[in-house]
Amino acid sequence: MRQRNVKNKKEIINNSKYIILNPNDYCGKWKSLFNNSNPIYIEIGMGKGDFILGNALTYPDINFIGIEKYDSIIALAIKKIDKYELENLKLIRMDALNICDVFNKEIDKLYLNFSDPWPKERHAKRRLTSNVFLEKYDNIFKKDKIIEMKTDNQGLFEYSLISFTNNGYKIEDISLDLHNSNVENNIMTEYEKKFSSKNNRIYYVKAQKKQ
Ligand SMILES: C[S@@+](CC[C@H](N)C(=O)[O-])C[C@H]1O[C@@H](n2cnc3c(N)ncnc32)[C@H](O)[C@@H]1O
Repeated sequence: MRQRNVKNKKEIINNSKYIILNPNDYCGKWKSLFNNSNPIYIEIGMGKGDFILGNALTYPDINFIGIEKYDSIIALAIKKIDKYELENLKLIRMDALNICDVFNKEIDKLYLNFSDPWPKERHAKRRLTSNVFLEKYDNIFKKDKIIEMKTDNQGLFEYSLISFTNNGYKIEDISLDLHNSNVENNIMTEYEKKFSSKNNRIYYVKAQKKQ
């Protein structure tokens, strides 16, 4: 995502009611932070937050956590999200490489939307669906491992299908043209709005690994 510098980004982050500044302290205890036993869904690489906000508003009985690596980007998401009063949404500014320090067997679903494709082979390990990340995700799920992914990048999509399969996932649902299939209640991301308006095809997959 193109990053423009956001003035006062640290201040915006430090003062947001949604940001968890010490996420490692809640490892294994996110349920207690939400004060309920509802399922917890996370999105890695939430960008400016449209998807996670839309989900939190639509599904009050699910807890959502949005994760983003960059201060400036999450600051833009906070500006949008802070206007709402939502008990079922938290945000974390971190690199997903450290995900195992933050969650331990407590996540019900992971969303990966329009993840950076890292097209060069030498950067393949940085893809959020590489073995490096899929092995880490194994530790965060409560029971069955469920990953839902959307992208307009055919190369990343094909790579991810192979990576999911090599890591023991089964493909539960797939669309090679999400916006021309019968999916209901699709909540769009910023990138999805941008690319679908250019008539790019949107790929979707739901992969699951049973416990
Ligand atoms: C291409 S953008 C897509 C944003 C949003 N999901 C959407 O669909 O509009 C990818 C986002 O993932 C974030 N990201 C990439 N690698 C990450 C990582 N290792 N940990 C957390 N966020 C990451 C980037 O900073 C960027 O905001």
